[in-house]
Amino acid sequence: MKIVIITFSNTGNTQMMGKIIGEELCREGEHEVVKVDGFSLIKYFGVGGRTGSKIKSFEDIDNSKKIKDMIETIKSAEVLGVGSYVYGFFPPPGVTELFDEVVLPKTLFQKMQFFFVFSSHGSLKSPTCTILRETIQTKNPSAIFCGSIDLHCPETAVELMAPLGHPDEWSTKEIERLREFGKTLLVSLTKKEKKTGKTIIPMKAYKVAQSTSQNIIRDITGKLSISEDLCIGCMKCVNVCPWNAMEKKVKNVKKAPSESEKGIENKEQMESHAIKIKDIEEYVPMCNDKECWHCARCYNLCPKKAISFPRFNTQLRVQHSAPKLPSSYNKSENQSELSESSSATKQSASSSSNDLPKFVSLAHRMFIGHRGIEGFLVILLCFTILLILKKLL
Ligand SMILES: Cc1cc2nc3c(=O)[nH]c(=O)nc-3n(C[C@H](O)[C@H](O)[C@H](O)COP(=O)(O)O)c2cc1C
Ligand code: SF4
Ligand code: SF4
Repeated sequence: MKIVIITFSNTGNTQMMGKIIGEELCREGEHEVVKVDGFSLIKYFGVGGRTGSKIKSFEDIDNSKKIKDMIETIKSAEVLGVGSYVYGFFPPPGVTELFDEVVLPKTLFQKMQFFFVFSSHGSLKSPTCTILRETIQTKNPSAIFCGSIDLHCPETAVELMAPLGHPDEWSTKEIERLREFGKTLLVSLTKKEKKTGKTIIPMKAYKVAQSTSQNIIRDITGKLSISEDLCIGCMKCVNVCPWNAMEKKVKNVKKAPSESEKGIENKEQMESHAIKIKDIEEYVPMCNDKECWHCARCYNLCPKKAISFPRFNTQLRVQHSAPKLPSSYNKSENQSELSESSSATKQSASSSSNDLPKFVSLAHRMFIGHRGIEGFLVILLCFTILLILKKLL
């Protein structure tokens, strides 16, 4: 069967989940797995933007080969897997909107016979899988739901990410749980087993809570800053921003020398010299804060660590540029395709030279490391204190 896995991954954890599930599904050689990067679709269609100003519909798809191929892939899916990271207790902006009828219509999901969902979270579990399940089921109500999994992964939210020393490695236990999930999916596909899922809160209520929660995270994180000294103008941040908040701006134009400066006096000379020196434009990234969700994707993926969130002294924090598997894990077989750099890199000197990060990291593990309702209450309390401080200062 053709299995298509769409992931919405900020920094690679969810993408890694999709990869491991895919490995399990391909193990017996009966199925073909193809992966689709959901954020490329969000970026292209302009869904989930803060001002909602640039939304494209399915009818507006232009000649972009990449997007057309992605759409064809989705259309060919007999089994669809959708996975997302957790953003402020919910799927990130644009994920559910992408499946709206005007963007990805029902006609694309007619072949879908089975589907499954998954989510990767940091400090606390969330209803993300429930929301994904409800969203995908509406696209083809006759498709069989094969199950879901929430996985505890390294934390990537700037506010919750501990300073240096935080255990930013995947746990072996969670990887095993994920492999087991892949195996049960295989059984479900063979036996056409239907899994049930509960929806306690109506989707409309989720939507209201989702935008409130994401705006709170945005306010707490605060504006990002770009260091002109460190930035090399590679524009990676512009390319990776899912909501097109980072823009490419001309910094300055180095004028090409004039004909007389080049020593050319007439047309013949110009042709024989064939000198085609053009003006050179230098670019800088510029963040449009009205559109920015302060999600930290650009911060995590900037190769020069030129982006920071000054409110959180990101100099002291782990930069999560790619998932790091446990050292015991077979790296050659399973290393993530997203690993452009050597996995979770550090922002500054090692933690052994700094006692404060160690202490804060310990506190992080003691308090935020909890999951479930205790973790949620601790985080809520921290957010409230931060909001009060913000108002007072
Ligand atoms: C802006 C932002 C908000 C987040 N909010 C939550 C949250 O509410 N609950 C949680 O458990 N994890 C939260 N996380 C952590 C991520 O969901 C988690 O680290 C996940 O594994 C990241 O996956 P990715 O690498 O695929 O993006 C947040 C991360 C970011 C960047
Ligand atoms: S990714 Fe970093 S170095 Fe590249 S343009 Fe953006 S800020 Fe500059
Ligand atoms: S933090 Fe960076 S990636 Fe995230 S919305 Fe803002 S500009 Fe885009």
